[in-house]
Amino acid sequence: MISRNDLCWCGSQKKYKKCHLQIDEKLTALEQEGYIRPGRHLVMNEKDIEGLRKSAVITKGILDQVGERVKPGVTTDEIDAFVHQYTLERGGRPAPLGYHGFPKSCCTSINEVICHGIPENRALKEGDIINIDVTTELEGYFTDASRMFTVGEVSEKAQKIIDCAKDCLEIGMAQVKPFASFSEIGLAIEAYAISKGFSVVRDFGGHGIGKKFHEDPHVSHYDTHQKGMIMIPGMVFTIEPMINEGTYKLNILEDDWTAVTRDGKLSAQWEHTILVTDDGYEILV
Ligand code: MF3
Ligand code: CO
Ligand code: CO
Repeated sequence: MISRNDLCWCGSQKKYKKCHLQIDEKLTALEQEGYIRPGRHLVMNEKDIEGLRKSAVITKGILDQVGERVKPGVTTDEIDAFVHQYTLERGGRPAPLGYHGFPKSCCTSINEVICHGIPENRALKEGDIINIDVTTELEGYFTDASRMFTVGEVSEKAQKIIDCAKDCLEIGMAQVKPFASFSEIGLAIEAYAISKGFSVVRDFGGHGIGKKFHEDPHVSHYDTHQKGMIMIPGMVFTIEPMINEGTYKLNILEDDWTAVTRDGKLSAQWEHTILVTDDGYEILV
């Protein structure tokens, strides 16, 4: 048991009563209402956030520069090589490489591929849409983000699903503030996606991140009818809605990674790593 005058458990060097005491009391009340209390290891301190910001510089740098490489004739292997080299040159490690046996340094998911597409010797062609998903580990800190890119001119429906997925990410982030529940993210995203005639992938979600690639909580992008975990300042997690043109159902290919829409229709995704602040959130990358 921690006393009011002890140093706070968060590492701030402040007294508990001047730091997390009130937050803990509020969480206890919410826990009694059926919400889930976040573990203390999910709360990043100042030093951790500093580390995450440095990691985020690399992830953002890649996503800012990779777009000019996306054009007809370029292979996803070439995109992967860029991500790999850029990360190593800056002292980082591409976290996907070797993650549960994943063979490359980023994910490249084209058209009907929902996520976890493996870079290969396949050339992009005019009209393709592609998600490039980058995760960097720097000095033990992970940041994870992805964006959609278009190859030349794309169809109106392709642009529409890209825009919808981006709006879904914004709407999800707008739910983030201290003492909100993670369940509110999925509730808001699903309602919006359905209003646009699209569906929300259920088999994958966002995730806590920080000192690990994938950490609690699982962040659902649809309504799970559960109360969920409570957000408090210092928590870091991703929101990464995958929005499908047709069914939300998916298949995993023989490579054990590539997730594709079951009906072969388009899918789009955007991802940010965000930090819960005292009055809302901040996009780390
Ligand atoms: N970056 C993905 C995510 O958003 C995870 C990729 S796992 C990998 O969570 F092994 F495929 F890289
Ligand atoms: Co992620
Ligand atoms: Co990612």
